[in-house]
Amino acid sequence: MAFSHDLLQDKTILITGAGKGIGRACALLADKCGATVIAVARTESDLISLKNESSQRLSYWVADVQDEALYEKIRTLGSLHGLINNAGTNRVAPMAEQSDENIDDILNLNVRSAYKVAQAAITPMLSSVAPSIVHMSSQMGFVGSPGRTLYCLSKHAIEGLTKAMAVELAPDNIRVNSVAPTFIKTPMTEPMLKEPAFADMVMNNIPLQRLGSVEDVANACIFLLSELSMTTTGSCLKVDGGWTAQ
Ligand SMILES: NC(=O)c1ccc[n+]([C@@H]2O[C@H](COP(=O)([O-])OP(=O)(O)OC[C@H]3O[C@@H](n4cnc5c(N)ncnc54)[C@H](OP(=O)(O)O)[C@@H]3O)[C@@H](O)[C@H]2O)c1
Repeated sequence: MAFSHDLLQDKTILITGAGKGIGRACALLADKCGATVIAVARTESDLISLKNESSQRLSYWVADVQDEALYEKIRTLGSLHGLINNAGTNRVAPMAEQSDENIDDILNLNVRSAYKVAQAAITPMLSSVAPSIVHMSSQMGFVGSPGRTLYCLSKHAIEGLTKAMAVELAPDNIRVNSVAPTFIKTPMTEPMLKEPAFADMVMNNIPLQRLGSVEDVANACIFLLSELSMTTTGSCLKVDGGWTAQ
């Protein structure tokens, strides 16, 4: 199921991590809903294939979300109605074994760059109608999980960022929400989900007994970007099959 009408017509939406997985599904759906999408990732071949699947409106920037030049480029956009702050990753290991490099990489990508991209987006959003930011969180922003303490730290930070930004930016009419998926089959999780014991553990923790799809996550993001959710800010829309309700 997907939105098929022109929910995002006349809106410019920037999506980070749009080359693969969840971000790519968000870009395809936003484009289908009439948005002018700016897709950001580092691998140009992914972005070229995304463009080939999309309307003429979609453009892409080959950029690292940790690069100052990207923040300046966002700041100088004429208008920006929506941001899906999605680029992020995971390094699974017991807490005692996490290297300093992993700690820095995860916090720099999942937290610092999310803050910096959102910070840059404020400037063009101030002159845009009904602006909305969606941070890509995770069910791990609400619970703990063995081997995922570092990732949980980063996603709990995203939940805090979402609420604090929502309060601070409400006077400017900028809405800020998050989307928290359960395990979704993407290039990031595919190797883990191939392990039968891990796949069983995941299904045993999802009351709906359904692995989410990238389209499920994109639907939630598009709702929060659209004017269907004008009174929703500081919230998290969980796409977790009930994992965190237990
Ligand atoms: N998959 C899940 O089960 C799941 C569940 C909950 C939450 N999430 C969250 O959802 C988001 C996307 O996850 P995913 O599974 O779709 O990941 P993915 O399949 O690994 O795709 C990540 C995308 O982000 C881009 N990216 C990574 N680092 C980047 C950087 N420094 N600058 C710019 N782009 C970068 C990647 O492209 P390049 O490498 O070419 O830049 C790729 O297009 C993440 O924040 C993740 O934590 C995922």
